[in-house]
Amino acid sequence: MTNPRIIWITGASSGIGEALALKWTGAGTLLILSDRNVTQIEVVADQCRKGGAEVLIVPFDLTRPDQIAIAVEKVQSVTSRIDILANVGGISQRSLILDTPSEVARRIMETDFWGHAELTRLLLPHMIKNGGGSIVVLSSFSGLFGFPQRSYYCAAKHALHGFFETLMLEHHRDNIHVTMVCPGRVKTNISYHALTSTGQEYGKMDIGQENGVTAAYCASKIDKAVKRRSKQVIIGKKEVIMPYLKRFAPWLFYTIATRIDPNA
Ligand SMILES: NC(=O)c1ccc[n+]([C@@H]2O[C@H](COP(=O)([O-])OP(=O)(O)OC[C@H]3O[C@@H](n4cnc5c(N)ncnc54)[C@H](OP(=O)(O)O)[C@@H]3O)[C@@H](O)[C@H]2O)c1
Repeated sequence: MTNPRIIWITGASSGIGEALALKWTGAGTLLILSDRNVTQIEVVADQCRKGGAEVLIVPFDLTRPDQIAIAVEKVQSVTSRIDILANVGGISQRSLILDTPSEVARRIMETDFWGHAELTRLLLPHMIKNGGGSIVVLSSFSGLFGFPQRSYYCAAKHALHGFFETLMLEHHRDNIHVTMVCPGRVKTNISYHALTSTGQEYGKMDIGQENGVTAAYCASKIDKAVKRRSKQVIIGKKEVIMPYLKRFAPWLFYTIATRIDPNA
């Protein structure tokens, strides 16, 4: 990879995005950090600068295509090359299909699918013109199978797989590499900010999540996967058995999955 490395991370103020920023900081790196929370992103930016990177903060809301277009223009005015685009920002869900109004559903789909698809679509011609690059996409186990109270979150994550696999097939000759990242449970604030049926935050950490892998561990697995140009990486503890069961022993997967209480 040519120097300096230029890396754009969305969802960089917290959790996995923050951990990736800290993993990838270092002399000779320009980090472009995006999120809505400018105060918190400044804190992450300071740590990255201490780690030796140059940092550009480009705040935007993933649900706002107008803000995404402005963000791409702003980045293009500073650098026409991006070596790694990490589509990390996201929001989860804690509501049954029957209770979820369409405005909550749309907010989840816009954040978790449309925002990343739009940012990548606008950036892709510049990446191709500059010789290619890597695109990291934060999917989830919810991108591999359904899960109660995650209907629209699962739908958005599944949509990411269809979109980015197509992108990879259309542009592998342009040296564009896509790594789909599928973590199980990572100990971050994701469940705190998950949307309930009223559009309010869930406000607590799931017990399973409390015992999940750390964001730093997740970031180091993502780093290795990008270096190896892996098309997909599954990250977690014991729960990593589930994607393999779904693939190789679906009957057993459904026996276990249907025991989950949808109202729990
Ligand atoms: N933690 C897990 O167990 C787990 C498992 C599988 C997949 N993932 C995926 O990993 C990614 C990162 O999540 P995390 O676990 O690190 O959770 P997190 O700590 O809550 O981070 C989510 C990030 O997304 C940003 N974000 C949310 N809505 C946004 C919007 N509309 N526009 C711009 N940024 C927005 C948040 O910042 P602001 O709200 O400040 O903007 C925050 O920085 C997500 O895509 C999530 O689905 C997480």
